[in-house]
Amino acid sequence: MSLAGQTAVVTGGGRGIGRAVALALAREGARVALAARTLAQLEQVAREIRKEGGEALAVATDVSSAGDVAALFSASERTFGPVDVLVNNAGVVARRPFVELSEADWDLQLDVNLKGAFLCARAALAGPTGMLSRRRGRIVNVSSISGTLGTPKLAAYCASKWGLIGLTKALAAELSGSGVSVTAVLPGSVDTEMLVGSGFAPDLGPDDVARVIRFLAAEAPEAMTGSAVEIFG
Ligand SMILES: NC(=O)c1ccc[n+]([C@@H]2O[C@H](COP(=O)([O-])OP(=O)(O)OC[C@H]3O[C@@H](n4cnc5c(N)ncnc54)[C@H](OP(=O)(O)O)[C@@H]3O)[C@@H](O)[C@H]2O)c1
Repeated sequence: MSLAGQTAVVTGGGRGIGRAVALALAREGARVALAARTLAQLEQVAREIRKEGGEALAVATDVSSAGDVAALFSASERTFGPVDVLVNNAGVVARRPFVELSEADWDLQLDVNLKGAFLCARAALAGPTGMLSRRRGRIVNVSSISGTLGTPKLAAYCASKWGLIGLTKALAAELSGSGVSVTAVLPGSVDTEMLVGSGFAPDLGPDDVARVIRFLAAEAPEAMTGSAVEIFG
């Protein structure tokens, strides 16, 4: 098991892609802290992991809140030790014609999809037991193929996902040689709750995305830092 003894934080770990990622990392031996707002879903995934012999912790978290993110990383470190792997997967979408997009719609998508990743990455990297001090760590950001193109009725979502690729590349460049790698995955349409009502047919399942993230978190060469890996077909 290539992640034996390591600790992973997976945001949006209560369902969909995050659930599949949490299970995949736990199967590689990682102890997994699961973060999202709906505690009951996190606890269900934690039970699934424990049933397979793994270790998991459910922490109710809004990733757009700096206070919640600080509490998540403290709880994770207290229970499992310092974080080795961070998967920034939490995300929301609001499909609206551009002129009907409210300021609240805009703020929510940018706050969860982009600021949430910033807050979690900063919490994982900083401090005496952070990835930078320990000179080890892997951060994987779940962007989207919508981070490479423009999709009608998804202006704020696209902006957040293009932004997440920018964050990935800037951070990877800044951390080059530090022992910490930063990558992004860019899935097409994945068969999850988020896709319901989108009008898109699924191209792939959550486990397909989880396989790629498992590789980036566990095996990928350091030279892949900064990569934005399309899973699109
Ligand atoms: N499905 C697709 O076609 C597709 C394609 C490309 C990329 N993606 C990306 O993949 C990621 C996972 O999406 P999914 O398809 O698995 O959708 P999903 O089933 O709706 O899952 C989204 C997860 O994010 C969590 N979340 C939402 N807001 C949050 C917040 N403020 N703080 C913490 N957690 C929050 C949700 O839990 P709570 O609601 O309980 O907080 C849930 O666990 C997203 O970043 C999405 O943009 C999805």
